[in-house]
Amino acid sequence: METIVGKDINEALAFLEAGEVVAIPTETVYGLAANGLNESAIIKIFEAKGRPLSNPLILHFSSQSAILPYVTDFPPSLNKLALAFWPGPLTLLLNKTDLVPPLITAGLDRVAVRVPAHPLLQKLLKKSSFPLAAPSANLYGMISPTQSKHVYQQLKNKIPYILDGGECENGIESTIVGLENEQVVVYRLGSISIEKLAAILRYTPTIKNHSENQPLTSGMVKHHYAPKTPIAYLKNDFVFQSDSNSGFILLKDNRPEIPTSQKFILSESGNLEEAAKNLYGAMYQMDDQNFDQLYVEKLEEIGLGLSINDRLNRATKKFED
Ligand code: TXA
Ligand code: MG
Repeated sequence: METIVGKDINEALAFLEAGEVVAIPTETVYGLAANGLNESAIIKIFEAKGRPLSNPLILHFSSQSAILPYVTDFPPSLNKLALAFWPGPLTLLLNKTDLVPPLITAGLDRVAVRVPAHPLLQKLLKKSSFPLAAPSANLYGMISPTQSKHVYQQLKNKIPYILDGGECENGIESTIVGLENEQVVVYRLGSISIEKLAAILRYTPTIKNHSENQPLTSGMVKHHYAPKTPIAYLKNDFVFQSDSNSGFILLKDNRPEIPTSQKFILSESGNLEEAAKNLYGAMYQMDDQNFDQLYVEKLEEIGLGLSINDRLNRATKKFED
């Protein structure tokens, strides 16, 4: 199948209505979407991604009110977060009704829902008569795409259409939260920092990102988000050897001894939002340059630094096992 890359929401919608899988832009990362109510379409997402059926999918809606038929209730504290952050990079786990196909939740009682902010996707969702099921549009275990060309690299000839919405604004996935004993719990660190959640909730939510009990989410697999080139954290006492064929991903340009061709600066000013936006693109670009080894700087664990480090922990972990 020839993959078309375009900006036509009507063409994208026609494929979705025909039960096909289409890559869509969101403000976090590109998603691999299908009609979330059509089981044979949903299956195609798992096939294209090479993802196990045991790993549930997020349903994307145009508005909070569109979600209501699919959930049994909307607890006040999660409603507060929805009001504060939707449309935007927040995913809520809510108790599902029978309208949600079991394939979406992998048999779990809760369904993951989100109202994305990307304007092109908003238009598509408003025209669509069904919610869109969509995981990130990467092959299972690989780096999430933040540009249409990243999707094309991995999924060309596997899907009919990539809706090109430019570079993703946030660059890392949505923050996933749910309730346990009436307290908000964060299941995946993401584009909305813990500090921002805490400001709305007036308490700091517990983080259950690192699966203590069971791996609820694919981001919880120990290694994930990984390039093909071995990648490790840059140690503080690291000394650059000019004859090495290594690539470096740095927050700021604090290593003048490393030639420009061997480094990617995530944010000249050290801004963490900008760093998050550039992170996966940096990993793709550095992975394509035939370096023997990549090094990445661990960030300070405040704001999005915590979310970025979470992804880096998993990317580097792959090469430690
Ligand atoms: O930013 C995002 O959330 C992007 C864009 C495309 O919306 N999507 C995304 O989907 O990152 P995915 O499938 O790559 O990651 C969603 C995570 C998965 O790890 C999945 O296991 C978890 O959410 N998840 C989905 N439904 C769940 C559920 N019912 N209970 C627990 N975890 C769930
Ligand atoms: Mg993913």
